[in-house]
Amino acid sequence: MMIPHEKFEILYSSEAIKKMLARLGNEINEAYPKDEDLVVVGVLKGAWMFHADLVRALKRPVVIDFIRATSYGQGTESSGVVRILKDIETNIAGKHVLLVEEIIDSGRTLSFIKQRLASGGALSVKICTLLDKKERRVVECEADFCGAEIANHFVVGYGLDWGENYRNLDAVYRVPGEILR
Ligand code: IMP
Ligand code: MG
Repeated sequence: MMIPHEKFEILYSSEAIKKMLARLGNEINEAYPKDEDLVVVGVLKGAWMFHADLVRALKRPVVIDFIRATSYGQGTESSGVVRILKDIETNIAGKHVLLVEEIIDSGRTLSFIKQRLASGGALSVKICTLLDKKERRVVECEADFCGAEIANHFVVGYGLDWGENYRNLDAVYRVPGEILR
C-alpha cells in the first residue's frame, strides 16, 4: 500500500525549488560562453522534471539529451553496481556537457557517468544537482552547481521516487525514519 505523501514533511516547497532554479540558471548562464556548444544531459528517470525546468532557465542555445543508469533496486540503498540502461545519442566531441542529476548520494552513479562522458572527448563535463547528500559520499564526486545540500534524509517528490512512487509531486518531501523502517 502506498503511503499518502501528506504523512511526509515538506523539505523544499515548489516555491523554494523555483528560487533554486532561478539561481542555478543564472550561474550556468554565466559559466558557459554563448557561442560554445552546450549539451544538457539529464539522468533518467529522476532528473527528468528538474532537467525540464532547468533548461527553461537557461538563456542560451542548448541541445538536450538523456542517459539512464541504475545502481538502485527497489530499496533505498545503492547497490554499488552501475549499469547504463540508455546511453546519450549526441556526439559530444568538442562540446560542453552539463550532467543534470536530482540528487547525489554515494556518488557512484554520477562519477561513473561523468568518467564515461569525459572519455567521449567532451570539451568539459560539469555536474548540476538539485540536492546533494555530501556526508553520504563513498566515491569522489563534486557538483559544480548545486540547489541545496541536505543531511542524510530519504526524500521523494520532484522526480525522486520511493519504489517508483511520488515522482510527480511538485515539492521535495522528507520521508520520516519511522515510516521507512
Ligand atoms: P548514488 O549513486 O548513491 O549517488 O545514487 C544517486 C541516485 O540514487 C539518485 O539519482 C537517486 O535516483 C537515488 N537516490 C539517492 N538518494 C535518494 C533519496 O533520498 N530519495 C530517492 N532517491 C534517492
Ligand atoms: Mg537519479
